[in-house]
Amino acid sequence: MTGNGSTSTESKDDPASHVTIRVWDLPTRLLHWALAGLFAAAMVLAALTSEHSPAFRWHMLAGLMMVAVVALRVVWGLFGSKHARFGSFLCGPGALLRYLGDSLKGRDARQAGHNPGAAYGAIAMLVLPLAIVATGLMVQGRKEIFEELHKALAYGMVAVVAGHLLGLGLHAFRHRDRTIGSMVTGLKRGMGKEGISSFHPIPALVALLLLGGWGAALATSFDARTGSLVLPGTQVKLQLGEGAERGDVHPSEDDDD
Ligand code: HEM
Repeated sequence: MTGNGSTSTESKDDPASHVTIRVWDLPTRLLHWALAGLFAAAMVLAALTSEHSPAFRWHMLAGLMMVAVVALRVVWGLFGSKHARFGSFLCGPGALLRYLGDSLKGRDARQAGHNPGAAYGAIAMLVLPLAIVATGLMVQGRKEIFEELHKALAYGMVAVVAGHLLGLGLHAFRHRDRTIGSMVTGLKRGMGKEGISSFHPIPALVALLLLGGWGAALATSFDARTGSLVLPGTQVKLQLGEGAERGDVHPSEDDDD
């Protein structure tokens, strides 16, 4: 049974009174797994291919898709359901330090949505992909400093993801509220009043269509022959990896010829 209404017996956080509640709506889960999948794909492609390989363009396309995922998550963070909204989990550094101190003493309070540690991790995992893509695009300008920064930010994201998974494991061990599977099922154990009333399938469908549309726009504006792409809705031309006819797509190089 899922619950989302409060009862008088639920005023204390007593595990005996916990029921199965809806926590993560469908848009949050869709965007979570899209981000996780795209980031993992971009990292694997970067590790397995060189920037001179035609396959490297998929690394950059994964990055451009991540930007759309983060943009949609920001919109959902403003208008989405209770636990997805930034307003429900953003907190100051004092709350984070208190939470970390309590965790070390094994006294951290269970929370249905993001606890302060997870909240900072979530924000980092939404901001870092934007910085990674921005510096990745600047590598186009051949500035080596951006390449180094791009790599450092990507490894920083790997470290945050590792912390995220460790935190999930510790939380699951301590609170046994089915957290680990909750980003798949949307469900956790908790007090009925903590649950959300709907998984919001329509906004999830809209998000899926928008992501599909962005993916299709990227695919149609991509020139497989040269490996170049005109960013949809703009005049900005990008070289995705080292194209077969690389000299054709760099205006500065063309000018020199
Ligand atoms: C590349 C891998 C991953 C990335 C980039 C990632 C990213 C994120 C982000 C950004 C959030 C915040 C969600 C939001 O509010 O929209 C989050 C939360 C969450 N993720 Fe992941 N995640 C990854 C892997 C995983 C895996 C493998 C699992 C499950 C085993 C998982 C389970 C969860 C859960 C349960 C939450 C909500 C709990 C919390 O941390 O507050 N994640 N993740």
